[in-house]
Amino acid sequence: MAKHFVKQAKQYADTRPSYPPQLFQFIASKTPSHHLAWDVGTGSGQAAKSIAAIYKNVIATDASEKQLEFAAKLPNVTYQHTPSTMSMTELEQKVAPQGTIDLVTIAQALHWFDHPTFYKQVKWVLKKPHGVIAAWCYNVPRLSYEVDKVFDKFYKNDSGPYWDPARKLVDDNYRNIDFPFQPVDGVDHTGPFEFVSEVVMDLEHYLGYIRSWSAYQTAKEKGVELLGEELVGKFKVAWGENEPKVAKFPLYLRIGRVGDA
Ligand SMILES: C[S@@+](CC[C@H](N)C(=O)[O-])C[C@H]1O[C@@H](n2cnc3c(N)ncnc32)[C@H](O)[C@@H]1O
Repeated sequence: MAKHFVKQAKQYADTRPSYPPQLFQFIASKTPSHHLAWDVGTGSGQAAKSIAAIYKNVIATDASEKQLEFAAKLPNVTYQHTPSTMSMTELEQKVAPQGTIDLVTIAQALHWFDHPTFYKQVKWVLKKPHGVIAAWCYNVPRLSYEVDKVFDKFYKNDSGPYWDPARKLVDDNYRNIDFPFQPVDGVDHTGPFEFVSEVVMDLEHYLGYIRSWSAYQTAKEKGVELLGEELVGKFKVAWGENEPKVAKFPLYLRIGRVGDA
């Protein structure tokens, strides 16, 4: 799936939202120590940079080298290119030895992974029993009645056929994603817990966000331009005055601890 994120890597880095501080505060409050975190499917480091402000060291991995090229360089973040499916030996070499990681995060990427293999590796590297896994996705943004109306029709009818079936897990707000972990302290379930990511966007930024979708890329490869002139015209009319708007991305977190697994 990483191939979907190669061609528009710069677009991705420029237009995708980062995440609210409340999200990271909530997650960090659930790990007893803050030494080492692993951000998987880091892309251009959207989550890694915030985690690096709380955890002493962060290993940030992605199966797309191109995505990593655009990631923000920070002294306590080590970026690693990894194969889509790692062997246990590669895991130990490129990520960390058994039982050494406080927190594994996966931002807008868990739906792409092979879950049985990935969870086996998460359970291997997390500290037991309190190591935590936190995975979240965000769904489509809400801007205004007029813009959302154009968007919703386009999302369902035009872009619908070009999404990978895994997108269904995002459309369901990660409610139905396999997540075999125990509730963290203070709560009695593993989520989804809801947060909101807010981004101020002008129309160009908004259209750029749509162009960063894997579905946009897939359509393009099939000779279909999803953002044709007519649709862009409709978005312009719906946008009204050429002023920035606040885009609210609803965000859904699954969080759990490894236990004695
Ligand atoms: C939608 S992007 C999310 C990027 C970033 N975490 C964010 O919050 O915006 C999904 C990322 O997962 C990566 N990816 C997909 N499958 C992967 C796999 N099996 N192992 C590692 N990374 C993978 C892609 O290359 C891409 O950078």
